[in-house]
Amino acid sequence: MSIEFSLFDPAQKYGGRKQFDCGHAVINKFVHDSLVTQVKKQLSVAYVLTESDQNDRLIGFFTIAHHALDASLLSTRQLGSLPRQVPCARLIMLGVDQDFKHQNLGSRLMKHALAITKKSSSLMGCYGLYLDADPGAAGFYQKLGFALLEGNKSPESSPMFIALRSIP
Ligand SMILES: CC(C)(COP(=O)(O)OP(=O)(O)OC[C@H]1O[C@@H](n2cnc3c(N)ncnc32)[C@H](O)[C@@H]1OP(=O)(O)O)[C@@H](O)C(=O)NCCC(=O)NCCS
Repeated sequence: MSIEFSLFDPAQKYGGRKQFDCGHAVINKFVHDSLVTQVKKQLSVAYVLTESDQNDRLIGFFTIAHHALDASLLSTRQLGSLPRQVPCARLIMLGVDQDFKHQNLGSRLMKHALAITKKSSSLMGCYGLYLDADPGAAGFYQKLGFALLEGNKSPESSPMFIALRSIP
């Protein structure tokens, strides 16, 4: 089995994209119907894990974009003196196909997302990486160093953040 990480190319055909199933209906629908268009419109950039032995089957992905985070979401400990809108990166979607779960592929994707965040901070102001975690995935992100943010908590999603200085 040969799993490769690459930048998603909206012009390329990925095997099984329309059958991608990470067990999360909204994320599945996004991959099936919206991923190509969103990347073409440059609303986000996507990175994928593909299985070259299976016709470049898409087995995992994330999308990432710039974001302005309301500083009131950061705790006073993280706050220091910051502008009201804090520039950061935002992880929008993440998923690993159910056939490939618990093989550290989600962590592998996240390590790339953190590395991209770090790299982008040398080109443009970027205080860290923000995401809205599905409640079922908050534990996964905590293991990677993300902290739950204050405010805006809802049963559907939990805002989480890792500051650039905490990215290894
Ligand atoms: C969350 C997801 C990306 C994890 O992918 P994965 O490849 O199975 O994760 P990994 O194998 O890299 O797991 C790494 C660690 O996180 C843990 N973990 C995985 N999913 C977890 C979860 N939902 N909650 C808590 N811990 C989790 C694993 O047990 C493992 O721990 P360990 O290193 O101590 O053994 C995947 O389960 C998924 O696609 N879920 C559905 C979509 C989703 O919820 N996306 C996030 C929306 S914000």
